[in-house]
Amino acid sequence: MPEYIEFNGIGKAYPGVQALKDISFRAGAGKVLALLGENGAGKSTLLKILSGDIQPDEGTIIIDGEEQKFAAPYHAISRGISVIYQDRQLVPGLNVIENIYSGDLPSTRLGLLRKDEMRRTTREIIDAFGLPIDPEELVGGLSVAYQQMVEIMKAYRRDSQIIAFDEPTAPLTDAEISILFRLIRKLRDDGKIVIYVSHRLAEIFQITDEIVVLKDGRLVKTMATPETDEAELIKAMVGRDIGDTYSRLSRNDKLGDVLLEVNNLVTDAVHDVSFTLRKGEIAGFAGLVGAGRTEVVRALFGADHILSGEIKINGKIHKAGSEKASIEQGIALCPEDRKEQGLIMWRSITDNICLPVLDKLKKLLFLDRKKSETLAEKAVERYSIKTPTLDKIVSELSGGNQQKVILGRWTSDLIDTKILILDEPTKGIDVGTKAEVYQMVCDFAKQGIGVIFISSELTEVINVADTIIVMHNGHITGTVKREDATEENVLALAMLD
Ligand SMILES: Nc1ncnc2c1ncn2[C@@H]1O[C@H](COP(=O)(O)OP(=O)(O)OP(=O)(O)O)[C@@H](O)[C@H]1O
Ligand SMILES: [Mg+2]
Repeated sequence: MPEYIEFNGIGKAYPGVQALKDISFRAGAGKVLALLGENGAGKSTLLKILSGDIQPDEGTIIIDGEEQKFAAPYHAISRGISVIYQDRQLVPGLNVIENIYSGDLPSTRLGLLRKDEMRRTTREIIDAFGLPIDPEELVGGLSVAYQQMVEIMKAYRRDSQIIAFDEPTAPLTDAEISILFRLIRKLRDDGKIVIYVSHRLAEIFQITDEIVVLKDGRLVKTMATPETDEAELIKAMVGRDIGDTYSRLSRNDKLGDVLLEVNNLVTDAVHDVSFTLRKGEIAGFAGLVGAGRTEVVRALFGADHILSGEIKINGKIHKAGSEKASIEQGIALCPEDRKEQGLIMWRSITDNICLPVLDKLKKLLFLDRKKSETLAEKAVERYSIKTPTLDKIVSELSGGNQQKVILGRWTSDLIDTKILILDEPTKGIDVGTKAEVYQMVCDFAKQGIGVIFISSELTEVINVADTIIVMHNGHITGTVKREDATEENVLALAMLD
């Protein structure tokens, strides 16, 4: 079993960016090491080097004194390394056993699969982790959380000694996060080396022993978790104090007339949902993942079919038939899933930001390039999108910076927005920029825009929204005013049937 893994002078450049430079640190057995840093700091790049997906320009990886060369993922796997990315890497059409063994199926000398052995081992691993998973179940039918557990079990089956996670909790509910943490603690107690990337600072204090902070591709600090606190971490990451984000927010204190009225909305996933939104009001939607919040706003926006119910905008009935009609009515939806519903990955930042306002950017028959670029530039500045040029294609941005491009698109000056819907806008975004997003939400409210703000981070909804609407199982279980909201009473409603 390896005692340590060491990164020694790792460097990696992409056109126009030094993604990593001179990164040196050591991760030891029986410990969880956090890798922290702002969006684009280089965390995922370092994990891709560890997994052999990409090769560094300089530097080496050393395991127990021995220099390693990972020219391909296979080499890293054979040296006991597993990297668990956010996008699952399982085969949905195969069952749990087949996925756990995919890549190296054991066979007899006659070439037959050792099916009994595979089934038995899988069962043992599932039991060792104490999970309610059926080995014969197709992986495609499992929830995102359980798919992630299957990836962890796969790493365990390969007897990986070094296991890295890239933002594993982003799609998980609180209950699922506690299962994940239980598994991670088991890996740690078994003496494995665990590397953990997340933007949620509370998690860092719960699960990690050591912290390495990256900034602009360089290592700025290493710390022992028990010896630091949030303020110090933020300062190391952002390079300055950001103070108490929430109390500094400059809010809108004059709510206007009723802007949006939703009465008894029913869709396949939503039952009898009614609420109102005033001009200048921020309505926060809280609830567990899967509570139906996304489905409500998708129906509002015209993306999902409405079975019954009524939507009024400024007192007039709105027929939410199509997304186009919604945009014309001034509804903007900034979706949760940036890959599936948001971005055109192979187009530039500018193209992605200008997409909904192309008709306003036309000069005669052509696009006004200057105007488009100004619009994109503003977004890049507002959300500190880290990129060398506006022409960079979106697939080459870091995860958090992709999220910022979506925000930039739906909050640009040219969009005539009356109702702004933000679905998990801060998912994967670093702490410094989160504060900017909150202020931006308040600024929109001050202009009289009604904002619907969905978030799974309770503290965030409670502190940013004027009214907190709580959902569970497709219906609203309660509405709480900001001054009355506490994590306890909102959470209690979120679990209510
Ligand atoms: N394939 C690529 N081509 C060009 N540039 C890239 C590529 N992959 C990453 N980069 C750049 O390298 C830098 C580091 O990106 P990386 O994905 O490692 O950041 P990160 O720390 O994981 O950020 P986040 O928290 O947003 O996920 C960024 O500036 C990014 O744009
Ligand atoms: Mg990343």
